[in-house]
Amino acid sequence: MSRLVYVLNGPNLNLLGKRQPAIYGYETLADVEADCRRVGQELGLEIAFHQSNAEHQIIDWIHKARERAGGIVINPAAFTHTSVAILDALNTCEFPIIEVHISNVHKRESFRHHSYVSLVASGVIAGFGTQGYQLALQRLARLIEEAKK
Ligand code: DQA
Repeated sequence: MSRLVYVLNGPNLNLLGKRQPAIYGYETLADVEADCRRVGQELGLEIAFHQSNAEHQIIDWIHKARERAGGIVINPAAFTHTSVAILDALNTCEFPIIEVHISNVHKRESFRHHSYVSLVASGVIAGFGTQGYQLALQRLARLIEEAKK
């Protein structure tokens, strides 16, 4: 299985560090990308890191990933709670998918308690701050190893 992992980020995450820091913290998306690249290197994973505010762009990256990647880490942001189209795209992938939320969505408004993406995710990480991305990569590396056996 490919050791290329796509790390995909949805709308408004480009403002990480400036956006509601009491909820999402002060780390920027560039910090998260640097963490993912460092942890990815330790785990022997190649990282393709992307963010978009546009649903179609995220779907296009999922389509690219399904051809060449071994897994996806995705924080779909608000699309988590709305996008059947992203769920459908993820359902075309045959590798593990880990859903990440920086905040603990279950402690927040009830509309954040439902996730379309959870229907396809191997696992969900929420409320661990930006560290959740690193934990997701660790889990994905394990799943990719296990798939080899
Ligand atoms: C989020 C949680 C979502 O409910 C929200 O719309 C986001 C970020 C998180 O990382 O905690 O934009 O996915």
